[in-house]
Amino acid sequence: MLSPSPSSSTSSSSITVMSAISLLVFFVQICLFVTNVSGSHHHHNHNHNHNHPNHNTNNNKSSNLGDKIVNLPGQPFVGFQQFSGYVTVDRNKHKSLFYYFVEAEVDPSSKPLVLWLNGGPGCSSLGVGAFSENGPFRPKGNILVKNEFSWNKEANMLYLETPVGVGFSYSIDTTGYDAVSDAITARDNLVFLRRWFNKFPQYKHRDLFITGESYAGHYIPQLAQLMVQFNQKEKLFNLKGIALGNPVLEFATDFNSRAEYFWSHGLISDSTYKIFTSACNYSRYVGEYYRGNVSPVCSKVMRQVSRETSKFVDKYDVTLDVCISSVLSQSKIISPQEENGESVDVCIEDETVNYLNREDVKKALHARLVNVRQWAVCSNILDYQLLDVEIPTITIVGSLVKSGIPVLVYSGDQDSVIPLTGSRTLVHQLAGELRLNTTIPYRVWFAGEQVGGWTEVYGNILSFATVRGAAHEAPYSQPARSLVLFKSFLQTRPLPEML
Ligand SMILES: *[C@@H]1O[C@H](CO)[C@@H](O)[C@H](O)[C@H]1NC(C)=O
Ligand SMILES: *[C@@H]1O[C@H](CO)[C@@H](O)[C@H](O)[C@H]1NC(C)=O
Repeated sequence: MLSPSPSSSTSSSSITVMSAISLLVFFVQICLFVTNVSGSHHHHNHNHNHNHPNHNTNNNKSSNLGDKIVNLPGQPFVGFQQFSGYVTVDRNKHKSLFYYFVEAEVDPSSKPLVLWLNGGPGCSSLGVGAFSENGPFRPKGNILVKNEFSWNKEANMLYLETPVGVGFSYSIDTTGYDAVSDAITARDNLVFLRRWFNKFPQYKHRDLFITGESYAGHYIPQLAQLMVQFNQKEKLFNLKGIALGNPVLEFATDFNSRAEYFWSHGLISDSTYKIFTSACNYSRYVGEYYRGNVSPVCSKVMRQVSRETSKFVDKYDVTLDVCISSVLSQSKIISPQEENGESVDVCIEDETVNYLNREDVKKALHARLVNVRQWAVCSNILDYQLLDVEIPTITIVGSLVKSGIPVLVYSGDQDSVIPLTGSRTLVHQLAGELRLNTTIPYRVWFAGEQVGGWTEVYGNILSFATVRGAAHEAPYSQPARSLVLFKSFLQTRPLPEML
């Protein structure tokens, strides 16, 4: 996951905290696996599906009753409602997307609707977003514990597993997993929302925000753009803003900020920094890798980078410890360490996988596995067009801002995968292109009595913020600060200035 490095890719993929979580680089490995393995797999699975879920393919109006979750196994008592189930987005291929919807803790009818998307491409918003980051519960052993900083304190949260092949979402016609692109994903996501509104008509014209992270830097602007276009025919989406966390917005800028990040955080030496920025930079390496054509020079540079950074540091949060049990399952090299009493559960991914694969949990969620044996954090069956990573979505962000939609780009500042420096540069450049003046100069913002990070705002509509001490998955490692950020974003207010 550190890199699609030929020499170390197999072992580095699952050692980190959120190992497979929401990232894109990691996905290279999965995809190669998919291309090689699942091609043959697809067909023989095809006939096993007479027992496919018998959900509402005909979209009965406002029939969400079957989707209401009575109780998730092991959950504490809560006063809000939860729903989950399927929305069919393509009747010919029987493509259905799985969602988990959590109403706001208090007074849901007065609160906005927020769609959350994780990235990958191919990682789950249910497992990562809802159960590890900003949902109401986190799995711990056999039970769910309450997340005190759940985003449903401020909004009605809709988590979507997208595209098909991710999590519990599926395509009965397995060609639906082939060559899935950004364009297909955006279109399916739009169809999903339109039909989801048929189940939940009370949310139809509600203030709507879209949030997410990583490769959702592609999904979200592309979906928002389709919404803006759709609204010209029929005003349906009351889109009030988008927030993008450690997003891929322009592949070269985002990927090449990694070298300096590694170097300035002590993960690579001076001499390696030099060759990683001259002989072969990361965007070149990834481009070559995706085209199946890695040059000897890039291969050499990446081997050196991998050796120095090591696989025992989580590239998604360079200061956080890794999950020792996962590390040990990959390697006996390092010795186990005692729990240090840290409040962040670095093994949460393992717990989520265990929880979501329980029969009673799947039943409570109205979820089924189709074409796969296990619910996984990131899809093993999806064959995504990885070169779509090179599509610049920062330009789409620009057109959204021009059409009056507020945009927040935020960065967990411990992430080396999509570092804050690349995102900050891209936002600053965009502000320049749009001729937006700085309305809030770069300054700290507060969460409680501590600095939550730094922020800058352009033209009162385009914002950048860091979350101090946060991972690629900011709400996972800094839940309190992330909730402050989220609340300000929903209110389109500047981040808190003082204590
Ligand atoms: C990365 O490498 C490519 C190809 O060699 C080059 O065009 C580009 O300018 C480099 N970018 C950076 C930031 O060094
Ligand atoms: C932006 O700043 C420039 C220079 O201070 C000023 O001339 C211009 O009017 C400002 N634009 C807006 C839209 O406020």
